[in-house]
Amino acid sequence: MNLRICHAVDEAAAATAEIIVEQLRRKPASVLGLPTGQTALPIYDALVRLHRAGRAEFSQVHTLNLDEFVGLCSTDPRSFRGFMEQHLFRHINVQADHVHFLDGDARDTGRECARYERVIASLGGIDLQLLGVGRNGHIGFNEPAHDLHLRTHRVRLRLETRRANAGTFEGKVSAVPREALSMGMATILQAASIVLVALGRSKARAVASAFSERISTDRPVSFLQLHPNVTVIVDRAAAAGLPATLLRSHVESNLQRRARAPSRRRR
Ligand code: GLP
Repeated sequence: MNLRICHAVDEAAAATAEIIVEQLRRKPASVLGLPTGQTALPIYDALVRLHRAGRAEFSQVHTLNLDEFVGLCSTDPRSFRGFMEQHLFRHINVQADHVHFLDGDARDTGRECARYERVIASLGGIDLQLLGVGRNGHIGFNEPAHDLHLRTHRVRLRLETRRANAGTFEGKVSAVPREALSMGMATILQAASIVLVALGRSKARAVASAFSERISTDRPVSFLQLHPNVTVIVDRAAAAGLPATLLRSHVESNLQRRARAPSRRRR
């Protein structure tokens, strides 16, 4: 996995947005898998700025969000759909019918999950999956468990996850839905490329488990090691739990990259 350690949140957000812009430059009709959450906010701000500056064009893009709370309709401002509208979609030129979401209010959630998998397949799969990570190592809403669901499914949320999401529900954990619909691990791992972003000290353990030699359903993020094209972007605080050997090799490869850079410019 490629690791990039940034000094600050802004640098991490800008680096992530640049990867997305580069993806859109290579393939204007890219299919983007998108997360919600605090980590995504500075990234979406950076993307909106790039769009306004004429550097990010979304007219052909399709988006697929990772997850949604069960019981919330798409117009509910507390839904993930509401979050995405507020922070990204209404500020960029993505077409309304190119925005794909799980319907948390669907009567038959099993059918809804199967429908979502069909949408992903009909778009030819996800080109770039952007991910945050929960403190307990969950990605999407794939919570630590004895076994992990492969495909999009209905999930019971852990108390710590509901606590982490209480902000949107006036701080009331009891108001946070107990269940959600989420892409499964195989859905996520089948994306052509994955960019995981983690910011702050509270994510240090989850980041360490992303690189741990022990791949475990206790730490869903550890499964990303099975994917051939993952970039992990962290700030220094989130990198705090990484083993010294990994940090050393990261510093060395950065130094080598910088040493090569001037000669490349001269050519
Ligand atoms: C939420 C979302 C995830 C997100 C994670 C981290 O529960 N379901 O997609 O990546 O938790 O959120 P945050 O960035 O707010 O820490």
